[in-house]
Amino acid sequence: MYNSVCFVVLSWVFALLVFPGVPARSGESFSKPMDNITVRQGDNAVLKCIVDNKVSRVAWLNRTTILFAGREKWSLDPRVILLNNTAITEYSIKIQNVNVFDEGPYVCSILTNKKPKSSRVHLIVQVPAKITNISTDITVNEGSNVTLMCLAIGRPEPTIMWRHSSIKGHGFMNEGEYVEITAITKEQSGIYECSANNDISAPDVRTVQITVNYPPFISDVRSTGTPVGQKGILQCEASAVPLADFAWYKEDRRLFNGLNGVKIENKGRQSMLIFFNVSEEDYGNYTCVAMNTMGITNASIILYGPGAVHDVNSAVLSPHSSPCLLLTVILLYLFKF
Ligand SMILES: *[C@@H]1O[C@H](CO)[C@@H](O)[C@H](O)[C@H]1NC(C)=O
Ligand SMILES: *[C@@H]1O[C@H](CO)[C@@H](O)[C@H](O)[C@H]1NC(C)=O
Ligand SMILES: *[C@@H]1O[C@H](CO)[C@@H](O)[C@H](O)[C@H]1NC(C)=O
Ligand SMILES: *[C@@H]1O[C@H](CO)[C@@H](O)[C@H](O)[C@H]1NC(C)=O
Ligand SMILES: *[C@@H]1O[C@H](CO)[C@@H](O)[C@H](O)[C@H]1NC(C)=O
Ligand SMILES: *[C@@H]1O[C@H](CO)[C@@H](O)[C@H](O)[C@H]1NC(C)=O
Ligand SMILES: *[C@@H]1O[C@H](CO)[C@@H](O)[C@H](O)[C@H]1NC(C)=O
Ligand SMILES: *[C@@H]1O[C@H](CO)[C@@H](O)[C@H](O)[C@H]1NC(C)=O
Repeated sequence: MYNSVCFVVLSWVFALLVFPGVPARSGESFSKPMDNITVRQGDNAVLKCIVDNKVSRVAWLNRTTILFAGREKWSLDPRVILLNNTAITEYSIKIQNVNVFDEGPYVCSILTNKKPKSSRVHLIVQVPAKITNISTDITVNEGSNVTLMCLAIGRPEPTIMWRHSSIKGHGFMNEGEYVEITAITKEQSGIYECSANNDISAPDVRTVQITVNYPPFISDVRSTGTPVGQKGILQCEASAVPLADFAWYKEDRRLFNGLNGVKIENKGRQSMLIFFNVSEEDYGNYTCVAMNTMGITNASIILYGPGAVHDVNSAVLSPHSSPCLLLTVILLYLFKF
């Protein structure tokens, strides 16, 4: 790609034929070969060239293009300026607002005692990592396959890391632009964080939210012994996404808010069946039904009198209640009345 012989010849030809003298003095003719110069995109780069008093012709080249021949500017790029070089032994240029296209070899070409020499410097342009495209927030049903994408640019090439901190705290890490989640579970819902880093500046971080729909499951039911003539409350709590809708039944009869002396209060994950004034007929077996677009489930709750059964929930919550427990509940229930 870059041919140093070509530069040497070119610079020699230019130096010999074209350039009028810049500092021509006697002494040692050249500086050490230059290293890489690393600058951030948008910054200025100073390319130094140390000459000495034996030098008669000088030029700066960008690849094979002449930027400056002596003090004469050949480049049309206003960002390239010749420094005032107060020291007679210096012939340095400055590139303002460096961009990625400026990356490459630059040559300070010198003619000393009719011998051409050149000093190379390789300009390296760094660009902070930046995320250019990332998946949008999504809502999927439990069991779906999900692919997340996070694309980033930067020089050097950024490393892309995905992170998911679930509620349980066990972290999830994945390196690469894509994350594939097969048969997603509700535990895998939440915020996924993509960070792109190439150590040029602070990592660029963006997030994607995955919402996982799942059918309701009733996590808690509650009933307290309520004497006749008092306010009674049955509570039912269901975990679901989207949030569950609730319905209450007594045996096969659906109960409605405001009818038969009951009020139904739904708040988030929870539903309450409130009896304004409990009567004997109110005691009995109720069913809380929780449903959303993903499914439906129910649980039984007993409204009982004071001092009857206190731990009724565990018995009725279980779909396969043991006959013994059930019997106990029923007996206690009957015994009460
Ligand atoms: C200059 O950078 C290149 C990679 O861009 C590297 O291979 C080389 O070793 C570097 N040279 C010096 C002198 O640092
Ligand atoms: C060089 O010096 C002159 C006079 O001192 C000044 O006008 C000019 O802006 C300077 N150029 C640069 C590139 O600093
Ligand atoms: C150097 O050369 C490259 C390729 O021709 C060009 O894109 C870039 O703008 C040049 N940079 C300077 C500072 O001359
Ligand atoms: C991001 O990537 C997606 C999928 O490849 C594409 O459809 C979309 O146009 C991209 N958005 C931007 C802003 O590049
Ligand atoms: C999800 O991915 C698995 C494994 O790649 C595949 O067997 C299954 O059919 C996919 N499911 C859907 C709904 O695409
Ligand atoms: C509850 O109902 C009974 C019987 O209908 C009635 O006598 C009593 O006054 C009611 N109590 C309240 C607080 O409304
Ligand atoms: C309450 O009713 C449900 C069905 O409606 C039944 O499965 C459950 O055993 C009943 N519980 C009691 C304690 O009678
Ligand atoms: C409760 O669920 C059982 C089994 O899933 C079903 O047979 C029953 O009809 C449901 N009860 C109500 C009131 O929806």
